[in-house]
Formats: sequence, C-alpha cells, structure tokens
Amino acid sequence: MKSYFKSTHLLVTFILLPLFATSQKVSVLDDALNWAFNNIFIVATFLLIALVFGKLWGTMNDITEYHRKAFLIAKGIDPDAPEAKEVVLRESWISKLWTYAAGLVPKEKEQDLDLGHEYDGIRELDNSLPPWWLWLFYFTIAFSAVYLYYYTFTDKGPRQAEEYAMEMENAEIQKASFLKLQANTIDESNVEILKDAPLLAEGKAIFKANCAVCHGNEGQGTIGPNLTDNYWKHGGTINDIFKVVKYGVIEKGMIAWQTQLNPAAMQKVSSYITTLAGTSPPNPKAAEGELYDPSQSTVIEK
Ligand code: HEC
Repeated sequence: MKSYFKSTHLLVTFILLPLFATSQKVSVLDDALNWAFNNIFIVATFLLIALVFGKLWGTMNDITEYHRKAFLIAKGIDPDAPEAKEVVLRESWISKLWTYAAGLVPKEKEQDLDLGHEYDGIRELDNSLPPWWLWLFYFTIAFSAVYLYYYTFTDKGPRQAEEYAMEMENAEIQKASFLKLQANTIDESNVEILKDAPLLAEGKAIFKANCAVCHGNEGQGTIGPNLTDNYWKHGGTINDIFKVVKYGVIEKGMIAWQTQLNPAAMQKVSSYITTLAGTSPPNPKAAEGELYDPSQSTVIEK
C-alpha cells in the first residue's frame, strides 16, 4: 500500500491545524502546543479526518489510474511507454472552448492553408480570423445598434445635450457648496474686496438693514463715523474694515457682527463700504481718525 502521508496529511497538520489553533486566539507556538495537548480529542479527530481523506484520495487515484490504463490498452498504446503520458483521456471543456475560440487548425490540416510562401523557414498560412475576435466584433455591432436605439429613439437614456445640462447642474451644486465652504474660511487676514456688482448689491442691502441706523443711509455717519470720507479710526484697508465689522468696538457702541453675519456677508458689506469712499452724500459727519490713501496702501488689492 502506498504511503498514507500524502499532501492531505501535510495540509491538515501544517496548515489547517495551526490555522484553527490561531483562530482560537493562541498566538505563540508554545501556546499552540499547550492548546493541542489540552484539546487532544480535537487533534485526534483532525488526524482521523486526515487519515480518512488520505485513504479516499488514494482510492480515487487508484480508480483513475485503472481507467487510464484500460483506455490506453483499448487504444493499443502501452500504458508504461513514455508517449502514453502525452495522451489526453478527456479534453477539459476549457481547452475545448479555447480550441474553438482560437480557431486553431490541427497541424495535419495546415497543408490546406499553406499559401506557398516561405521566409526563413516560416510558412504563411491562410488562417481565417479567430472566432473570439469575430464574436467580439459582432457583439460591438449589436451593442451599437442597441445603444443607438436606446439613446436616440427612446426617452430612457439622456441625450448628449441633456447629459451636458445634468453635468452642469451638478457642477453648479458642487460650486455652491465649495463657495459656501470657502465663505466660512474668510477672515480679516485673507479677506479680499469683492468687485462683482450683484455681490456689492447684496452688501448694500446688508448695510441698509443693519448699519444705516448708526452710519446713515448713505454712510454719511450719525452715531457711528462717516464711512464716505478717507478718514478712518481703525484703518481703511479691507482687512481693517472687516476686522471692525467682525469684532466691533463694543465700548464705543459699534457692534461685533460676527454672531449675526456670516463671514461672506461681512465680506460683502465691507466691500460695499469701500465703494462709499469719496461719494460725499449730504449732511456728512465730520471726519474722524486718520487719513487713509488707498493709492499709498501697502495692501495689495486683488
Ligand atoms: C449701534 C450703532 C452702530 C451700528 C448698528 C453699526 N455701527 Fe459701525 N460703528 C459705530 C460706532 C459708534 C463706531 C465708531 C467706533 C469707535 O469710535 O471706535 C463704528 C465704527 C465702524 C467702522 C469703523 C470706522 C472707522 O472710522 O474706522 C466701520 C467700518 C463700521 N462701523 C461698519 C459698520 C457696519 C458694516 C455695520 C453694519 C453691519 C455697522 N458698522 C453697524 C456704531 C454702529
């Protein structure tokens, strides 16, 4: 009888058993051995199963061997001859499929395809296109027909223009959420003057609603200072203005707006204020603070 210790035994002893042991949260070899000793019945069961598997495996091999020999003898081939090893008993479906798909012509039929050209011992055969290639080609033709029908003659698939519109809509949403995110990161250090008319109009509306009570409708100043002259108590750069609006000058009666206006709104109203310089509305409040000349400013207005 052939040896019992076949690959199955090796598999069980060196792979499955340690795997099972480690799955029991036993990490080191010592622990594994301890575990094996303490669970001798499980180990014994494993060995028994391995033994049975080995036996079955061997029997299966014997049967296969027997059939192979019978087949070869029936074909008149000596089963012990070296060329017997080359004989294929039953071609697997995958190799059959490949033979078909590749359109391989058996060697003995190659003569029929020979075009009679030979270059350095290489003969030219008139092989037809391999079926796998042809079927792929047919598939693309069929696919294009379905595609054309689906996207052109039914309302199911979006047209190119619709797809474009959808993309644009999506981009618009993404842009809005990006700008919103951006807007909240604006502070006195990075704020820039807005030049867009619609944004300045929004700034004006914010001014009328919140600031006009103290700074006058035109920014000419009442309780709060005149915002139309070039004199500033807290500086005339966009950064200075934003800062005053954000933190206020509480003890002097200027509110800190950061709790009521979001950064984008403070940027809009501050930008609007920069447009008031030199507008000279009626009844201006006397200038306060220091002269600020934008042309002399070291702040780069982007
Ligand atoms: C309750 C009255 C009041 C309201 C409302 C008010 N301010 Fe003021 N603001 C003042 C006062 C008072 C000062 C002067 C602070 C000081 O003397 O330091 C001032 C100062 C300022 C300054 C600085 C001016 C300078 O000369 O440096 C800016 C800019 C300003 N306010 C913008 C705004 C904006 C924008 C709003 C609306 C969002 C607003 N203010 C709403 C009372 C107000």
